[in-house]
Amino acid sequence: MAKRKILITSALPYANGPTHLGHLLEYIQTDIWARFQKSQGHDAYYVCADDAHGTPIMLNAQKQGITPEEMVAQVSVERQRDFADFNIEFDNYHSTHSDENKALSELIYTRLDNAGYIKKRTISQLFDPEKGIFLPDRFVTGTCPSCDAEDQNGDSCDVCGATYAPTELKSPRSVMSGATPVLKDSEHYFFDLPEFEGMLKQWLHSGSIQQEMANKLDEWFADGLQQWDISRDAPYFGFEIPGAPGKYFYVWLDAPIGYMASFKNLCDKSDLDFDAFWKEGADAELYHFIGKDIIYFHSLFWPAMLEGAGFRKPSNIFAHGFVTVNGAKMSKSKGTFIKARTYLEHLDPEYLRYYFAAKLGSGITDLDLNLEDFAQRVNSDLVGKVVNIASRCAGFITKKFDGTLSSDNVEGELIAEFAAARQSIADHYEAREYGRAVRLIMALADKANQYIDAQAPWVLIKDENTAKQAHDVCSVGINLFRILMTYLSPILPGMAAKVSSFLNDELAWDKVDTVLVDHKINKFKALMQRVDMDKVNAMLEQSKESLAPAAATPAPDANNGEIDKDPIADEIEFDDFAKVDLRIAKIANAEHVEGADKLLKLTLDLGGPQRQVFAGIKSAYAPEQLIGKHTVMVANLKPRKMRFGLSEGMVLAAGPGKEDIYILEPHDGAKPGMRVM
Ligand code: MSP
Ligand code: ZN
Repeated sequence: MAKRKILITSALPYANGPTHLGHLLEYIQTDIWARFQKSQGHDAYYVCADDAHGTPIMLNAQKQGITPEEMVAQVSVERQRDFADFNIEFDNYHSTHSDENKALSELIYTRLDNAGYIKKRTISQLFDPEKGIFLPDRFVTGTCPSCDAEDQNGDSCDVCGATYAPTELKSPRSVMSGATPVLKDSEHYFFDLPEFEGMLKQWLHSGSIQQEMANKLDEWFADGLQQWDISRDAPYFGFEIPGAPGKYFYVWLDAPIGYMASFKNLCDKSDLDFDAFWKEGADAELYHFIGKDIIYFHSLFWPAMLEGAGFRKPSNIFAHGFVTVNGAKMSKSKGTFIKARTYLEHLDPEYLRYYFAAKLGSGITDLDLNLEDFAQRVNSDLVGKVVNIASRCAGFITKKFDGTLSSDNVEGELIAEFAAARQSIADHYEAREYGRAVRLIMALADKANQYIDAQAPWVLIKDENTAKQAHDVCSVGINLFRILMTYLSPILPGMAAKVSSFLNDELAWDKVDTVLVDHKINKFKALMQRVDMDKVNAMLEQSKESLAPAAATPAPDANNGEIDKDPIADEIEFDDFAKVDLRIAKIANAEHVEGADKLLKLTLDLGGPQRQVFAGIKSAYAPEQLIGKHTVMVANLKPRKMRFGLSEGMVLAAGPGKEDIYILEPHDGAKPGMRVM
């Protein structure tokens, strides 16, 4: 078989917020494919990077009072740790905010410009006059122009489903400052996508594009392709456009170039040849794994940019569906918005790899993580079938036969049948039909167990005359197990590594047709625990808790009191203010809350009545620092039911959060119950 050169990517995750189980579907799917290709002896490389640029990242960093570079660096460390702990193994992990990406973005842009594919045009956009920034669609809210529902997004209405331009909203507001946006003109740079329509249609029909994706693309072609706005005005976190001071590349221009940049970075560290993978006409294969939400960018803009700048186009684009949990969209309040880190605190990463693989096909239908089914499936397939083969056979080999497999292979045919499944299983992996591969493997596991059941080595071992038969049967079992684990190794690399040291043998696909005879194995250690539903539930509980509203956490916009970054809100009437009943309260008691990592429970004395308030201040105060002090509370806030009990009001505090939270304290003389005006 010819050795293929294959470059594989996953979408570059935004350096903005934690990894969650939805992300992991993609990185696990890609990792399995990359490991599979490597196991077949191909030269496969799996690269990725953080997608560092854009307005949300810039604003998020601002909120935290750090530079975007600092934020991106922090997120990158956490992200890479998450991936590593899920056994996702990149050949390189880089960043779009890198020298390589800057150079490649400038190169591609300049080539497109020289070829006449960049057009300039002045457009009018909503601008936040207080923040001094143009507002992306989702930073504008207002009243739906179609049904008058309030608080709708800048691009579509959740109530009636209408889509519109943010300029059509009634009473629009900037999400950042609450200010009324104004229209402002600015010159924008456009990529002339319609010029590539013919090429794109041809490209899309030449490859083996997924059927559902082809349908989507046909719709887009029917609607007609539009020029693509690739510039954003300062302030923006990104790369400045060459020859256009104050104008930046829109994040989606340089993001896919990040695939090239990460690979370039790898080439510079190794003896890989960049051009062999990216030059027009290169014979290497190039595959992008992505979610269905970003098909447009990858199957239209990206190939057109590559073509226009003289690079090769992707061999294919593999889109997947979205993860739902227990049949619904991941939800913070239900605790089903599960972070990678929270999962890892409770469960083995290989469970999730297996479950996703068992349910993955090559299409873009959504994948439901049903947690009951998850536990049941992992327990019955991996623990009950696969590991069971080894645990039933290994003990006898170790205890009775000196840890050495029999020198006779008494089931040549059975073992050969397992080895012969190699090609069909490989074909399913290649086609990203992991679910089908898993079904074949599990059918073989059933067969192995039936064989052991029928032979009953635990009976044979008891009689001296049949002890040798027991040895043979257990040795066959171990050999069958070895083949199954080889087939499962792209999905379960962690377990495969343990099995490899147990078998004292490397698991290799091209060795499945050899049989281990008279071979020393090591002592069998537990390979995998059963999934414990209590741990699953604890994970869900924690996912709720980590997002519980923190009663006294300051508004997310607050930042070290720098008023220019957090401008004063819209004017209100005195009556509006008078509605808020602020009272002096004495902190009669403060205590930790079992199971809550952000909250303290305060008992507030109002000079008679007492109120219980849960305040998100644990990161800044120890309970004993607070007891006996006076503070100010909102006394007429509607009580809020929290996981730990009712919270009846809130205490006033300033600061950005974490250890920087400062509770208000009145001057001496103020008494509990006094109104604050
Ligand atoms: N930064 C862009 C991609 C740029 S690629 C040049 C982006 N980032 S993302 O962090 O929002 O998403 C990264 C990948 O995770 C995307 O492919 C996205 O589809 C996928 N997923 C995010 N949430 C998901 C689920 N709930 N389920 C499955 N995949 C999900 O998009
Ligand atoms: Zn509406």
